[in-house]
Amino acid sequence: MTDAAQQPIGVFDSGIGGLSVLQALRAELPHERFVYLADSGHAPYGERGDAYVAARTHAISDYLCTQHHIKALVVACNTATAAAIHEARLRHPLLPLVGVEPALKPAVAATRTGHVGVIGTRGTLGSAKFARLLASLQGQARFTIQPCDGLAHAIERSTAHPPAGPQDATEIRALCARYTGAMGVFGTQAGAIDTLVLGCTHYVFAQDILRDLLGPDVTLIATGEPVARQTRRLLQAAGTLAPQCTGSAPADGSIRLLTTGALAPLQNAVSRWLQLPASCCATVAL
Ligand code: DGL
Repeated sequence: MTDAAQQPIGVFDSGIGGLSVLQALRAELPHERFVYLADSGHAPYGERGDAYVAARTHAISDYLCTQHHIKALVVACNTATAAAIHEARLRHPLLPLVGVEPALKPAVAATRTGHVGVIGTRGTLGSAKFARLLASLQGQARFTIQPCDGLAHAIERSTAHPPAGPQDATEIRALCARYTGAMGVFGTQAGAIDTLVLGCTHYVFAQDILRDLLGPDVTLIATGEPVARQTRRLLQAAGTLAPQCTGSAPADGSIRLLTTGALAPLQNAVSRWLQLPASCCATVAL
């Protein structure tokens, strides 16, 4: 085993949305150590300009490299990937780097009606990177694109209470209903949208609401699992995968979660979605 194999994998998002990617990473790579940074003090990214998101991405990637000596970085944020992954690769040429983008190709493979819906932030869906992705699939399906201003922020705010406390999903539900309502008809009938791409990592935490609104026949597509598999491939290629040991679950000490915002919402989120103790979490000024 190389020294690098023992280093953690860095993961970051504008806030708690990337925890949906971290869930998939932990399932795929149970022997790895992770350091997750939620930039909640600067969230949401989706309605800010590229320059702001790129500056945050560079500050965070520099911090994770210099202070945590990460062996790979997963940008668990579609908005930051669209705005800054290219520059981040130039900035850290030796670091294996994985980004996330709306899973249009799997959606094209999944749709039976030929009509795919895509929801994401204004930043992601308005980016040149997304335009190129869409153009590459021209003619393979019909796409209906819907930016969802405020939805990531509402999901972020829903972590203000502990898991056992009141989970006020009213605002999230209202936003999901408004945005999906504006997209047209969902279902399996001819012409309807039967496949919805969750193009923002936060939206995975609204998938129960979306399923309830759209019905069981609509397929929701997220990116956590393919990103986790790609991370494994890059570590394998670099020879820095952590060694397998018997017993699959990593110890709680194998994961550190940091936030640039308030501590309690991150603690509530990791307890609710990753079943991890509050002691894994800390704040960081960045
Ligand atoms: N979770 C992020 C994404 O995947 C960004 C949400 C936001 O901060 O607006 O795009």
